[in-house]
Amino acid sequence: MTIDLERHEHVAVITINYPDKLNALNSERLRALFMRIQEASLNPDVRAIILTGAGDRAFVAGADIREMVSLDLDGGRAFGELGHAVASALEDAPQPVIAAVNGYAFGGGCELALACDIRLASPNAVFAQPEVSLGIPPGWGGSQRLPRIVGTGLASELIYTGRRVNADEALRIGLVNAVHPAGDLIAEALSMAKQVAANSPVSVQAAKRLIALARGTGHREALAAEAAAFASAFATSDQVEGMSAFLEKRLPAFGSGEPA
Ligand code: COA
Repeated sequence: MTIDLERHEHVAVITINYPDKLNALNSERLRALFMRIQEASLNPDVRAIILTGAGDRAFVAGADIREMVSLDLDGGRAFGELGHAVASALEDAPQPVIAAVNGYAFGGGCELALACDIRLASPNAVFAQPEVSLGIPPGWGGSQRLPRIVGTGLASELIYTGRRVNADEALRIGLVNAVHPAGDLIAEALSMAKQVAANSPVSVQAAKRLIALARGTGHREALAAEAAAFASAFATSDQVEGMSAFLEKRLPAFGSGEPA
C-alpha cells in the first residue's frame, strides 16, 4: 500500500509512502490518495487530518514526470483533473487538514500542501513550483492557491522562475505556519490536530466553511481555467522537451510552444 492511513484517537494521519521516488504521485497513487482522503473525511469520528510523506527527504516531489512525459492532450487533461480532484478533496474535507511538510514539496507536492488548511514544516522542507521548467503551467491548483497564501507578486515570481523556497523563507512569507525539528514534526502536527479535535467539531467545521468563503466565489471557475491551460500544454513540444530533459538529466531547449 503506497498511501497509509492511521488513526490517533480523533486524528487521521495520511502518509504518502513511496520514498524511493520521493513520494512522486502517478495516477494510481493519486487515486489511492483520493480514496484515503475520502475514507478519513467521510468518517464522523475524524475531527482533523494530517497529510505527510514517508521518509526523511520528501513530502511529495511532484507529479510523476515519468508518467506525464508521454501524455497527450486527453491524457494531460485527465491527469490534471485527477490532481485537482485530490487537492479539492483536501480543501473540501469538512475537517481541518494539516500538511506536515518533511522535505521536498515540489510542483504537485507544493500544490497539495497549499490545498491543506495549515502547513507545518521541518527545517529541510523545500517548496517550489517548477512546472514551467518542464513545459507546463501549474496544474493542481497552484496558480490560484499560491497567490492567495503568499500574495500575487511573490507567487508570480515563484511560478515564473520555479525557484526554491527553504523552510526559513517559507515561514517568513507565510507559506508555513511553523517550522519544527524534523524528529518532532509529526508529534507537533498531532498535538495541533488534537487541540483542534478537542474543540466542538460542528463549530470547527462551520469555521472551515466560513473561511472558505474568504476565497471568493470565482475560485472554482479559476481552477477550471487552470485545468484547461494545463491540459493544453500536453499538445505542445515544450512539454515533451521539458519532461524528457528532466528524465535524461539534461537542460531543456524550449521552442515557442508549437504543437507536438
Ligand atoms: N517524477 C518522477 N520521478 C521523480 C520525481 C518526479 N516528480 N521526483 C523525483 N523522482 C525520482 C527520480 O527520477 C529518481 O528516480 P531514479 O532513482 O529512478 O532515477 C528518484 O525519484 C530520486 O530522485 P533524484 O532526482 O535522484 O534525487 P535528487 O536528490 O538528486 O533530487 C529533486 C531531488 C526533488 C531535486 C529532484 O528529484 C527533482 O527535481 N524532482 C522533480 C521535481 C519536479 O520538477 N516536480 C514537479 C513536477 S510537476
